[in-house]
Amino acid sequence: MTKRVAILISGGGSNMVALADSMTGDHPARACLVLSNVEGAGGLAKAEALGIPTACVPHAPFAGDRAAFEAALHAQLMKAQPDILCLAGFMRVLTEGFVARWEGRMLNIHPSLLPKYKGLNTHQRALDAGDAEHGCSVHMVTPALDDGPILGQARVAVAPCDTAETLAAKVLVQEHRLYPAVLRRFAEGQAGRIDL
Ligand code: GAR
Repeated sequence: MTKRVAILISGGGSNMVALADSMTGDHPARACLVLSNVEGAGGLAKAEALGIPTACVPHAPFAGDRAAFEAALHAQLMKAQPDILCLAGFMRVLTEGFVARWEGRMLNIHPSLLPKYKGLNTHQRALDAGDAEHGCSVHMVTPALDDGPILGQARVAVAPCDTAETLAAKVLVQEHRLYPAVLRRFAEGQAGRIDL
């Protein structure tokens, strides 16, 4: 049976578009919802243009009440009945309670070669460390930030002239290859990690 995928975004949604574009033909999954915590996030308009249902739960009105914010997110997800959640540039930390509800069914893409550089500013941190290579990881989401089992990684060489911006752009190209490849394998129920 076709799996239903909800994609959570906060920004431009280029990974969301890559995922949505990949779910055609004999792919075992289809996008059922694009959900954002940011009103006017560029990805929402892109999802609408692709004909994918969208919803937005702004986090600001829930300031200080993460549980209430997540309850509102969950309510939107329940309407769409996803089998799989893909975090794709979703920039809110989720609580253990929310993560537990989706255990084994929630993926995230992170712009570093985990376990290196959990959290923010990953490209600058790779440059500051003098790393010769950098990249991105897709992993299962567990309660600890950017810490779950790694399902795939893609690598890029760091050039002497790279800045955080040029490195981010190079990594993003690889994100768009890696995330669809990992999602497809995951939706097919296949084990094993992908290295690009
Ligand atoms: C991507 O680079 C993604 O890896 C990163 O945000 C960007 C979203 O771009 N995610 C994180 O940093 C999560 N900690 P997009 O909206 O164009 O897909």
